[in-house]
Amino acid sequence: MHILGIETSCDDTAVAVVKAEGGLKRPLFSVLSNISYSQVAIHKKFGGIVPNLASRAHLEKITPTAKTALLIPRINSDEIDLIAVTRGPGLLPSLLVGVNFARALAYKWQKPIIGVNHIEGHIYSNWLQHFISTTFRRSSESGIIENSTFRIIKFPALILIVSGGHTELVLMKDYGKYKIIGETLDDAAGECFDKTARILGLGFPGGPAIAQLADKWEKNKLFRTHILPIGQKCVHIECAHRQIKLPRPMINSKDYNFSFSGLKTAVLYLYNDLVKKYPISKIRPVLACEIQNAIVDVLIAKTLMAVKNYNPKTVMIAGGVSANKKLREEMSIKIAPYKIPFFVPELSYATDNAAMIAATGYFNYLKKKPMPDSWKKLEANANLRL
Ligand code: KG4
Ligand code: ZN
Repeated sequence: MHILGIETSCDDTAVAVVKAEGGLKRPLFSVLSNISYSQVAIHKKFGGIVPNLASRAHLEKITPTAKTALLIPRINSDEIDLIAVTRGPGLLPSLLVGVNFARALAYKWQKPIIGVNHIEGHIYSNWLQHFISTTFRRSSESGIIENSTFRIIKFPALILIVSGGHTELVLMKDYGKYKIIGETLDDAAGECFDKTARILGLGFPGGPAIAQLADKWEKNKLFRTHILPIGQKCVHIECAHRQIKLPRPMINSKDYNFSFSGLKTAVLYLYNDLVKKYPISKIRPVLACEIQNAIVDVLIAKTLMAVKNYNPKTVMIAGGVSANKKLREEMSIKIAPYKIPFFVPELSYATDNAAMIAATGYFNYLKKKPMPDSWKKLEANANLRL
């Protein structure tokens, strides 16, 4: 079946067309288009997302984005079997645009519609592979060659969800069956990346900016050590970086909860102290590296603790922060001794996108098929839980 996915929960206007088949036994997805309009340029100057500007931009872009998503695979409305739209959690003014657009389409096309939980969407991004968009190939009959492979994801699965608004450890017992075993008590991991990046003056969104600086610093670190006469103290921050240590909040607590707001405060104090001694351009990479390490250390420690106690058959990460290279690589190394399959979403599906919403729509559809008039009951819910 062909599913039109729509996502507007935050600052990306995204629409995708996904072909889904195989049922629950062998779910298989081919992403025929996955179009996203990012609002980063709009919100950058404010250092964060401005809800009213976000909803206005969604309104402006949702129709052209949907048109393009349908145009690329040359699919018309008759060939769409289901509409899946994010109904929460997220910013209400943003959610309302997507939900109402989707409802209007469902009414006009007389198609069933399903409201999707955005966090569940991130989880199912792990079932998506092979991005086929501008690079797709066509067969001689002008159909798309769908180059899909199959991932075996066994339950119970342990999922670390790390996004801009959520940090949760979830035990997934079956399709649609979740138990949150731990979550953040204050800021989310992505929020911590964004807020600390702001302290360093790195702009928005902070996660990729910190990751880029940190990775570059780590790569070149070895070349920067130099030998000093015994007893002489070096004034270079490159040499002082070993003394720069941020806290790893709650890393030793016996539960699966997280807390990142203290880390943000620690960065602020440390930064204010360091700017008195070193140029900002020198402080940024050192602090970026330590911020990334601190966040990743905590996320991995808690996930491993859950691996030991719950014995999952699969481990996955999901959400925007799952795009972080350090997290992906370190987690994969640390989980390897447990011999449990570890999956990460492909980079194109790690941050917000509509293909994951379409895939989630498929799983929900298989459990409970919606009626053609389901648009009547669909509502956005900014505080929707898993
Ligand atoms: O899931 P997502 O795209 O949107 C929400 O649902 O919140 O996640 C966005 C978050 C932002 O906080 C962003 O800074 C973070 O994901 N992020 C990253 C990276 N790419 C995006 N954090 C660390 N490293 C990255 N490479
Ligand atoms: Zn998200």
